[in-house]
Amino acid sequence: MVVSVLAGCAGTPPSGTRDVSSSGGGSAGAREPTYRHVVAADHEIASKAGLEMLRKGGNAVDAAVATSFTLSVVRPYSCGIGGGGFMMIHLKKHPRVSGLPKTVALDYREVAPSWATPNFFETDPARRNNANASIVGAHAVAIPGTVAGLLEALEKFGTLPRETVLAPAIRAAEEGFVVDADYMRAVGSSNVARGTGPEFAEFRSIYLLNGKVKAGDVIRQPAQARALRLISRDGASAFYSGEIGSTIRAVLSSGGATVTAAELAAYRPTELLPLQTIYQGKRVFAFPPPSSGGIVLVQTLGMIDSRRAEFDSFDYDSSAQVHFLTEAFKHSFADRSRFLADPRTTDVPVLALTSQSNIRDLASRIDMNRVQPIESYGSNLPRGSAVAPADSGTSHLSAVDSWGNAVACTETINLQFGSLVVVPGFGFLLNDQMDDFTTRRGKPNAFGLRQDERNLPAPGKQPLSSMSPTIVLSGESESSPVELVVGGSGGPWIITGTLQVLLDCVTYGIPASKAVAQPRIHHQWMPNTLRIEPEIAEILEGSGAQQRTVRAGLEARGQELKLGKSECVIQVIRRSPLQRDRFEAGSDPRKGGKPAGE
Ligand code: GLY
Repeated sequence: MVVSVLAGCAGTPPSGTRDVSSSGGGSAGAREPTYRHVVAADHEIASKAGLEMLRKGGNAVDAAVATSFTLSVVRPYSCGIGGGGFMMIHLKKHPRVSGLPKTVALDYREVAPSWATPNFFETDPARRNNANASIVGAHAVAIPGTVAGLLEALEKFGTLPRETVLAPAIRAAEEGFVVDADYMRAVGSSNVARGTGPEFAEFRSIYLLNGKVKAGDVIRQPAQARALRLISRDGASAFYSGEIGSTIRAVLSSGGATVTAAELAAYRPTELLPLQTIYQGKRVFAFPPPSSGGIVLVQTLGMIDSRRAEFDSFDYDSSAQVHFLTEAFKHSFADRSRFLADPRTTDVPVLALTSQSNIRDLASRIDMNRVQPIESYGSNLPRGSAVAPADSGTSHLSAVDSWGNAVACTETINLQFGSLVVVPGFGFLLNDQMDDFTTRRGKPNAFGLRQDERNLPAPGKQPLSSMSPTIVLSGESESSPVELVVGGSGGPWIITGTLQVLLDCVTYGIPASKAVAQPRIHHQWMPNTLRIEPEIAEILEGSGAQQRTVRAGLEARGQELKLGKSECVIQVIRRSPLQRDRFEAGSDPRKGGKPAGE
C-alpha cells in the first residue's frame, strides 16, 4: 500500500503499513473532501443540526450549540442537558463582540451539591458499603451545567435566536432516531447492567424499550422535546428554577439526595483563560483545570519539542516513536494524578507544571532504551499520592465557520447513560459525574483505579475531568487563522487520542478523515500498561536479521503491552493544506459519526 505524507513533515511511516495519503490526493485513495464551514460530531443528525445553523447564516457557536442540544437527543448515553462540558471558543469575527480575535474556555462542568462532603461516600451509613452509590442513583448526580453553558455561549458569542438553535433538537426528539451499533454497545455496558432497580424503570422504558431495544429501532423522546421547548421559550431559568428544576430536585430527593432550589438556581458557567503553548510554530489553546487534558497536552507537546530533532528522526508508529510518546504520557499522567483537581478549591501548581524548565526536565528523563521505575515518573514538586482515573460516555464536536470562528466542545454525563436517573415527565438523563471525584480514599473507582485526595468532593467543587477541547492556530500570533479543532471522548483516552490526532494532522500532515481512523496507543501511568492497537504492534521494522515487530521493540525496552481497540473517539477539523480557505473534517469511525458541511 502506498503511503505519503506532506513534504517537510517529521519522520516517515514505515513502508507496507497504512494509507495516510495527503490531501493532495495520494495515489492510494480519493481526494479528501473540503468545506468552507463544517461540523464534525459523533452522530450525523447532530452534525446536520449544526450545518442547518451555518446555512441560516449562523456562526460556529450557533452551530455548536445546535449540535450539542441535538446530541442530547441522539447520543443520550454520552452527553445531554443533564450533564456538563467544556467549550473552547475562538472568535475572529462577530457583529457584536469587540477586541477580536479572542479565545475563551467556557467551563460548564457540573458542581457537587451541598450534601457532598469529602467523607460522604466513606462514612454515610447507606452508601459506605455500596460501591455503586457514586455511579448510579441520586447520589451519583452533580448539579448539571450544560443548559447554562450552552445558552451563555449562544447569548454572548452566537448570533441566532434561541428558538432557531433549539429547533433541530426538538425535531429530533419528536421524530426519533434510529438505534445504531454504538447505541447497542452502550446498552451492553456494565453501567446499564446496574439499572435493574425500580428507580430506573423510566430509564429502561425510554432508552432500553423495556429490554427489547435493538439496532434499527426508532427511539422517540416526546418528554425530552417538552423540556427542550421550555428551554427554547424561557431560557436557562426553565431548567434551573422553573418546572424542570423543581422536577430534578424532586427526583433526586426521592432518592435521598437533597438539592436546594437556591443551589440549583445559583449554577453559573465560568469563562476561563485557556492554557497556551507554541508547538512547531503554532499557537495551541488547551483547556485549563478542572480539565486535566490541557496540562497533559501542554507537557507532552513540550517534551516532544524539547527533543525535536530526535523525535523527528523516529519513523511514524515505530517502536522508538511509540516508546517516546509512552514515556512522555507516563510523566504527564503521573502529574495528572498527583497534582490536578478543581483549582477554585484546591491548590493546583499550573505554572510550575507547565514551565519550560519543568518540561525540559521531564523530557531529559526519558530514556530511549528503557522504562523507569513507575514511581519515578512526574514532576519533582511536593506531591500527594494517587493513580489515574478513567471514564466514558462523553461526546466531542468540532465546528468552524467561514468567518474564521471555531468551537471545540466536549460534553459528558460520565458513564454510559449517566446515573440512569431520568427526570420524570422530561425524559432526559442526569449525569453520574460524582464518580469523577475521589469518592473513597485509596480505593479503586468503577474502573479499578484510584485518585488523589485533592480531588475529594466538596459542595460547589467540580470533579477533575479528562475532557480536552483544543484549538490550534496556523502561526504563533493569536491573529493567525485556525489550523485545527480537535477533541474526543473516552475518559483519560481522550487526552492521548487528542494528542495523537493533533500530531497526525500537524506534525505528519495526515488528512482529517484518515487521522481519526489511525490506530492509537494509550498509557496513563497507572495501571502500568501500554494499550496498543494491533495494527501498530504488528508493524515490522528494521531489515534482515534485525527485523522485528514494533511490539518486540517495545517489549525489549521494558514496556508492558496490552493489545486492544482504542477506547477514544475523536472529532477533528483541519485547514486544508491545499485550499487554505477550506477545511477537512473527520468523525471517528469508532463511533459511527459523520461530519456535515459544504
Ligand atoms: N466524565 C468524563 C470526564 O470529564 O473526563
